[in-house]
Amino acid sequence: MVGLARKTMSDLASLEQRALAELAVCADEPALRAWNTKYFGDKGEVVAALKAIGAIPKEERKTYGQEANRVKEALTKAFEGTLAGAKERALNASLTANPLDVTLPGRPVQRGRLHIATQIMRQIYSIFADMGFQVYRTREVESDEMNFELLNMPPHHPARDMWDTFHTTTPGVILRTHTSPGQIHVMREFHPNPIRVILPGMCYRYEAITTRSEIQFQQVEGLVIGQHVTMADLKGTITAFARRLFGQERQVRFRSSYFPFTEPSIEVDIDWPRDDPNADRLTKGTGWLEIMGAGMVHPVVLRNGGYDPAEYSGFAFGMGPQRITMLKHAIDDIRQFWGNDLRFLRQF
Ligand code: DAH
Repeated sequence: MVGLARKTMSDLASLEQRALAELAVCADEPALRAWNTKYFGDKGEVVAALKAIGAIPKEERKTYGQEANRVKEALTKAFEGTLAGAKERALNASLTANPLDVTLPGRPVQRGRLHIATQIMRQIYSIFADMGFQVYRTREVESDEMNFELLNMPPHHPARDMWDTFHTTTPGVILRTHTSPGQIHVMREFHPNPIRVILPGMCYRYEAITTRSEIQFQQVEGLVIGQHVTMADLKGTITAFARRLFGQERQVRFRSSYFPFTEPSIEVDIDWPRDDPNADRLTKGTGWLEIMGAGMVHPVVLRNGGYDPAEYSGFAFGMGPQRITMLKHAIDDIRQFWGNDLRFLRQF
């Protein structure tokens, strides 16, 4: 009995030596896998040696069992170390042969976002949509007639000086200087129905580019026409809009003004929170900021659109969303909007 156990113990020793020697000459991963099957597979030699524990005479069993487990652990550890080394060698070899390393993390895909100008436009659309306005787009290349004459500015009218104009080589064809010509397009299409639209879009002016003016900018025009539309409707609509955009606590002020296409004409201001450190600079010490021009649609304009001023009345307004965005976000240079500088755009 003693002899049998001795032999078994020496079997373990030779098993370990043989396994280690074979492991040492495994050249690559497939060879290592084969080694692993030979010793640790279902019919593997180490597995068999462990299974044999039960058949060992009682007095030798503990010693044998401990030794068998030690051998098992030593071989497992040796295998794992060798396998890791082989994997690293294989990776290095493939990196040298083919420098593309597919195991590296991928390049992150940048998430896009809406341009700040688009964001503010959508905010404006949704506020007016809640008040029953629909969005109506009209052309950017306009006739002088639409942009000026039908808006009550005949040729040589001094008010044309308010808009420095880009002319094309075709006489009478210009880039629109404001969205107001859209009023005529809408009236002619909707007549004799009532109208409640906003007209957003790009406008162009031939002027010096500064921190406060650009040759291109967006406007949002508003037009409401009906049979009992009054100045009170204009004031209520504008006040509701300004408070939704700037805050419910905002005060709105109406000053009398002049535009050829409205009578009477007004300019709309909102108060600026006095605790804003920029308040004084923005409002030039007055506490008020202009946000748009507006007024009751001039009878001549109504008639040019096809509506009889004896029966219909309406109000209109026009604002520059870039200017409004500058106020909201304390942006001090209007050129940022179309400059495509990601450092600016990513802030919104
Ligand atoms: N079109 C004017 C501008 O570009 C803005 C404006 C003022 C539009 C009064 C209107 C309005 O509809 O009623 O300066």
